[in-house]
Amino acid sequence: MKKRNISILLFLIIINCLFTLHSFSQNHFTPGEIWKDNNGVHINAHGGGIVYHNGKYYWFGEHKGENSNAALVGVTCYSSKDLYNWKNEGIALNVENDENSLITKGSIIERPKVIYNKKTKKFVMYFHLELKGRGYEAAYAGVAVSDKATGPYQFVKASRVNAGYYPINMSKDSRRDRLKTEDYKEWWKPDWYKAVDDGLFIHRDIIGGQMARDMTLYVDDDGKAYHIYSSEENLTLHVAELSDDYLSHTGKYIRIDPAGHNEAPALFKKDGKYYMITSGCTGWDPNAARLLVADNMMGEWKRYPNPCIGEGADLTFHSQSTYIVPVQGKKDAFIFMADRWRPKDPIDGQYIWLPIQFENGMPVLKWMDKWALDFFDNPK
Ligand code: GAL
Repeated sequence: MKKRNISILLFLIIINCLFTLHSFSQNHFTPGEIWKDNNGVHINAHGGGIVYHNGKYYWFGEHKGENSNAALVGVTCYSSKDLYNWKNEGIALNVENDENSLITKGSIIERPKVIYNKKTKKFVMYFHLELKGRGYEAAYAGVAVSDKATGPYQFVKASRVNAGYYPINMSKDSRRDRLKTEDYKEWWKPDWYKAVDDGLFIHRDIIGGQMARDMTLYVDDDGKAYHIYSSEENLTLHVAELSDDYLSHTGKYIRIDPAGHNEAPALFKKDGKYYMITSGCTGWDPNAARLLVADNMMGEWKRYPNPCIGEGADLTFHSQSTYIVPVQGKKDAFIFMADRWRPKDPIDGQYIWLPIQFENGMPVLKWMDKWALDFFDNPK
C-alpha cells in the first residue's frame, strides 16, 4: 500500500514538473512583448549579443534596473537550445564594489558581446565602458575573460583603443596634416565635415587612443576577430582587428563613413559579403536604420539606405539594432536583434527580433507580430 502511495506521489510530481515546463515553453517570437525567462521573469539582457557553443546559444546583455541605466549589477547571461526559451544563468560579469575599480558599481557598461576563441578555449567579452560619475567622456572598450560560457568573467582591462596607430585607410597626406579641434569649433559646417573626413579626431586621439562606444564583435570564418565600434565622438565607425587571443587590438583598423553618425553596429556574412546594420545617433530615441555592405571586413564599406520596409520603418520599428544571430542548422537564416529602450524604466525595455529577408539580393526587415524559425524554410 505504502509503495503504491509513493508511486502515485512520484507520478503527480512528474506531471506537475512537465506541466510547469510546458506552461513556460514558447515556440515563436513576439517582438516587443514581455519575454519571460525560465523563472517567468522578463529577460534582462539589453544591448545584447549571442554566442553559440556546443549546442547552446548564450545571450549576454546589460542588466538594467528600474530607475537607472548605470551598471548596478553587471552583464547577465541566459542560455537556450532553441532561441525561444531562455534560462537565466545569472550574472556573467559582476560590477565591483571597490570604488577604484574601472567597473565599479555605478559605472556604465553597455552592449556587451562575447566570442569564443578556439585556440585558447576562452570566452572573451568586450563591452563599452564609461567611468562612474564621468558621463560618457571616457569611451573605453572593456575586456573580460572566462573558461566557461556562462562565466564568471574576470575583468582584464579597459581603455581607449589603438593608441599610436593611424587607420590603414587614412591617406599619407591626411596623416601628415595635423588638424586641430580648436580650429574647427563649429560643428556641421562644410570645412568641419572636410576636417572630420580628413581625420580631425584621429589626430586629437592619436596618443591617448581612439574612442570606443557602441560596439559589436565579429569572428570571421578564418577565426580572425574584429571589434566594430563608434569612434571619433560617435561620428565615425571603426573596424579593428583583434590579436589571435582576441584580448587586444593589433593596431590595424579602418574608418567607415566619416561623420556618418553610425551607432549600434550589428553584422552578418552571406555568400562572402559582409552586411552591417547600424542606427543613427539619437540617444535612447529610435531613428532610421542604415545598411553598409563590403566584400572585405577591412573595406571598402558602401552605405545604403534604411533596410526596414513598411509601417514603422523610419524608426526601425521603434528600436535600435544590437546584434545579428545566425540560426544554427539553417542556411542563410539570420535574426536581427534590437532594443526598444525605456530610459525612464530601463528594466522594462523590450526586444525586437525579426528575420532578415532578402529582396533583389539585399537584406530587408519587415515588422511581424509573431513568427517562428520555420519562416526561414518558407519566407513569404
Ligand atoms: C544610444 C546608444 C546606447 C546608449 C545611449 C545613451 O545612442 O546606442 O547604447 O549609449 O545612446 O544615451
